[in-house]
Formats: sequence, structure tokens, C-alpha cells
Amino acid sequence: MSFALALTRVPIPLAERGYDILIAPGLLDDPAAFAAVPPGGTALIVTNTTVGPLYADRLAATLAQRHARVLRLELPDGEQFKTWQTLNTIFDALLTQQADRRTVLYALGGGVVGDMTGFAAACYMRGAPFVQVPTTLLAQVDSSVGGKTGINHPLGKNMIGAFYQPLAVACDLATLKTLPPRELSAGLAEVIKYGPIADMAFFDWIEQHVQALRACDVAALAHAVRRSCEIKAAVVGQDERESGLRAILNFGHTFGHAIEAGLGYGAWLHGEAVAAGMVMAAELSRALGLVDAPFVARLRGLIARAGLPVQGPVLDAQDNAGRYLELMRIDKKAVQGEIRFVLIDGPGRATVRAVPDTQVRAVIDRCCAG
Ligand code: NAD
Ligand code: GLY
Repeated sequence: MSFALALTRVPIPLAERGYDILIAPGLLDDPAAFAAVPPGGTALIVTNTTVGPLYADRLAATLAQRHARVLRLELPDGEQFKTWQTLNTIFDALLTQQADRRTVLYALGGGVVGDMTGFAAACYMRGAPFVQVPTTLLAQVDSSVGGKTGINHPLGKNMIGAFYQPLAVACDLATLKTLPPRELSAGLAEVIKYGPIADMAFFDWIEQHVQALRACDVAALAHAVRRSCEIKAAVVGQDERESGLRAILNFGHTFGHAIEAGLGYGAWLHGEAVAAGMVMAAELSRALGLVDAPFVARLRGLIARAGLPVQGPVLDAQDNAGRYLELMRIDKKAVQGEIRFVLIDGPGRATVRAVPDTQVRAVIDRCCAG
């Protein structure tokens, strides 16, 4: 298979809130990638202490061709800093620099920077424009797209936030070259997710190209990012605020969020928790007769080949399943304490439903180790 590495454009069809995702190597240096942003005024690049030294100079030089003033802010790096305290440092910077409501925030980094910067933009003076410049695979295929922004609460993952769409998303594939292998694998979890919920032909393709993806082959990455964004765009275009369909994008996340909160944010990467969570959700689907054992084995095999965990951690030596259930009741899909799971209703199709605790407990008991 050959791939064109020319610029790819994936539109997010949300009428007046619609925008394009641009995908290509080298976009950081291309002012045209930011043509959707009104020129002039102030830009604030929000990044972190890892990504800033790698890429902020280049982005700042590009943005200086479009904005009168380009400011920078480096946040501490890590999921454990996705908090009110860190969010407040963005407001401190904006107010100290007398940034007005037209100031454009640029989120340069992974999903943590993107979610926090987007939320800051949603709140600052009741709404400032922002642009996503995602530099992890996970952020390019998922978190930068669709307008979910927010922070964690000690009691629950991503519990405080807003739906707030960016003006544009610029995915520079070349930035993925510096991503640590563990982080690349974590991003593959969100790529793999799109197969069982929406597109088994894409799942076949990932099976064939997982080694190329792990080796950071830019043509393979270009295809993975494009197809993931197309699937996400189609879902978000139908259900921007998750009143129904959009919940399918959370396949594996109910278990995954429990793992992240239960172990302490940052112990497992988000993609790792989602990977083990997808196996558990697939096992639950099998227990309900929605998919067969070979399908679950195939998913488990691909997740393992992507370098990701296929078993959940033990969160409580006394009552592990009880602890998972307790954490999962705080999930955003829960209704009056009743947990709703994204299940696979035949390969390539997802459904959302409540499941009796006894069946969930049995799956947790089978799927956790360590
Ligand atoms: P992350 O933002 O923590 O980035 C992972 C690590 O890679 C960090 O240490 C970061 O500094 C580093 N990094 C980033 N780009 C790099 C590069 N090019 N080279 C070298 N190092 C680089 O984690 P993530 O996996 O990108 O995002 C996870 C977050 O995204 C979670 O908080 C999750 O809840 C959120 N998320 C949000 C959505 C959404 O729809 N908003 C969807 C999925 C996940
Ligand atoms: N990552 C899930 C969503 O955007 O809805």
C-alpha cells in the first residue's frame, strides 16, 4: 500500500463550530496551517516542560508571522498535574500579560496540555479562541478532536470540564519521532479502539501495520491518524455533546478510568488503562453473548502486539471487583449510580448498556492480575 504524504484535511462537520484537522509532517513550520485563526493580536502557546524545549521555538517563530505578540507558558509535565492548580497558572499568565478575549491559546503537547488549554480557553473571559497542536499519537487521533476539554478531580477522571471546540487542529506527524515508545503504544490503544466500535476493515489494517506504526513509519502514522480522525469526525458530527452515539468513543474507558483513578493518576498511562479496559469490556460483551471468544482473542492479541497491557491491575487485595465497581460508579455515563458500559455488539458495532454487577465482577476477577 502506498500513501500520499501531502497535506490531509479532515473536516469536523459542526456548522458554525466546524473546523478542519490538518495532518502532515512539518506543520509546525507552516503558517498556512494556522490560516483559520484571525491574524494579529496576542497568541499564548501553552505547552509543558518536556514538549516546550523540543518544539515551542519553532511554533513561536511560525506564529510570529501571524500574531503581533507571542507568549509562552510551560506547565509541569504529567497527568497528576491536570488539576485546578495548574489550570489556574494559565489564567495567571493570561491576566498578568493583560491578554484580552481575542487572545488565541495554542495547545502544544499531548492530551493533558490539550485538555487543560481547551478548558482554560472555554473559561477565560467566558471564551477565548484556541488551536490544538497535538504532539502525541493519542492526542492526534483522539483528544485534540471533538472539543472535550477539562481536568481531573481526585475522585474521578475528567470530571470537571466543558465542550469547547478549537478553531483548528494541526497534527505535525514529524513531532511523533521524539515520542517515547511507551507513549506511542499508549496512542495505539485509541487507534485500535476505532476498529471494534466502527470499522473492522481499519482493524485489519492495524493488524497488518502494527509493527510499522510502532517503528514510527510516517506513512503508516499518516493513515492511522487520518482514518481515526475521520471516524471520530463522523461520530462527533452526529452527537457533539454525547447525548447518545458519542459514548461509543469511550470503549474501554469505564474500566480504564477506574484503573487510572484507582492507581493514582500517572501510574498507568491513559492509553494503557484504556487497553486493559478494552479487553475487559470485550470480555463483558462475550459474557453477554454479543461477540464470540475468537473476536476477544483477536483484540487481545493486537493489544499485546501494540505493546500494551491486556490485564487490569489489582486495585484492592481484599475486594478488587468491589473497588472497580465503586470507582466506575463515578463514571460520566453512570445514571443514578448505575454503570453503563460500552460493549461490542458484533465486530464493528458498539452499544451502551447497564450490566448486572455479578457479571461485571466475574469479568474483573478473570481479567486482573498483579
Ligand atoms: P500526555 O499529554 O501526558 O503526553 C504523554 C507524554 O509525552 C508527556 O510526558 C508529554 O510531555 C510527552 N510528549 C508529548 N509530545 C511529545 C513529543 N512529541 N516528543 C516527546 N515527548 C512528548 O498524554 P497523552 O497520552 O497525549 O494524553 C492523555 C490525556 O488525554 C489524558 O488526560 C486523557 O484523559 C486525555 N484524553 C482526552 C480526550 C478528549 O477527547 N479530550 C480523549 C482521550 C484522552
Ligand atoms: N475520547 C472520547 C470522546 O471524545 O468522546
